[in-house]
Amino acid sequence: MLIDTEHLHHWMNAVRVSNNPMRTLDAFWSGQIKSKEWLVDTLEYVIRPNINKEPLTIEIHGGWVGTLASMLFQSNLNIKSIRSVDIDPHVQHIAEEMNRIEYNQGRFTSLTADMTSLTNYSADIVINTSCEHITQEQYDKWLENTPENSMVIAQGNNYKIDEHIRISKDIDEFEQQCHLNRKFAGTKRLPIYDRYMIIGNKNV
Ligand SMILES: C[S@@+](CC[C@H](N)C(=O)[O-])C[C@H]1O[C@@H](n2cnc3c(N)ncnc32)[C@H](O)[C@@H]1O
Repeated sequence: MLIDTEHLHHWMNAVRVSNNPMRTLDAFWSGQIKSKEWLVDTLEYVIRPNINKEPLTIEIHGGWVGTLASMLFQSNLNIKSIRSVDIDPHVQHIAEEMNRIEYNQGRFTSLTADMTSLTNYSADIVINTSCEHITQEQYDKWLENTPENSMVIAQGNNYKIDEHIRISKDIDEFEQQCHLNRKFAGTKRLPIYDRYMIIGNKNV
């Protein structure tokens, strides 16, 4: 996918306004960016933007510094609005800077909250690329609270580090953990770990 220079400028500003610029730069490791590019490309294939012209509302939970939101805004998908939710109070202003163009247009909002406590919201698509950062119990509660008709996109991985509390050994195990009626399941092989992704609907 292509990143335009105006958005790139705001990505750099987002690093500048960060309390901890080195930590923000972690969001730009090749594996992080490739995983998000894979999500965008796969979603374009699943949604087929040339057929589905309805503008989408998207929730990103565990949205961190907002790179995925920015990449989705720059994709071929027709996006009405994105809300990025993260429990870390230090990332909200970074995500707003990262998505400055769409924030100023009123199409990007961010919220500091625990994703498992969110109820009664609506969205065409709910994305959680931070599945490895929450326990199975938290994931189940989170999924239960997602809107009945939303498409759900979950990403996890097999990268064993202390902050990853719910890794999966392969895509089959990740699928079992996710409890989704799947439209897509796949593995992206990255230099030091594998990323797994399921796109589907809640198994009700
Ligand atoms: C290291 S980051 C992102 C990792 C992931 N691979 C990605 O790029 O989307 C994980 C994020 O999940 C957030 N997070 C963890 N538990 C959360 C929760 N219960 N609700 C909302 N955000 C959460 C953290 O604050 C952090 O910003």
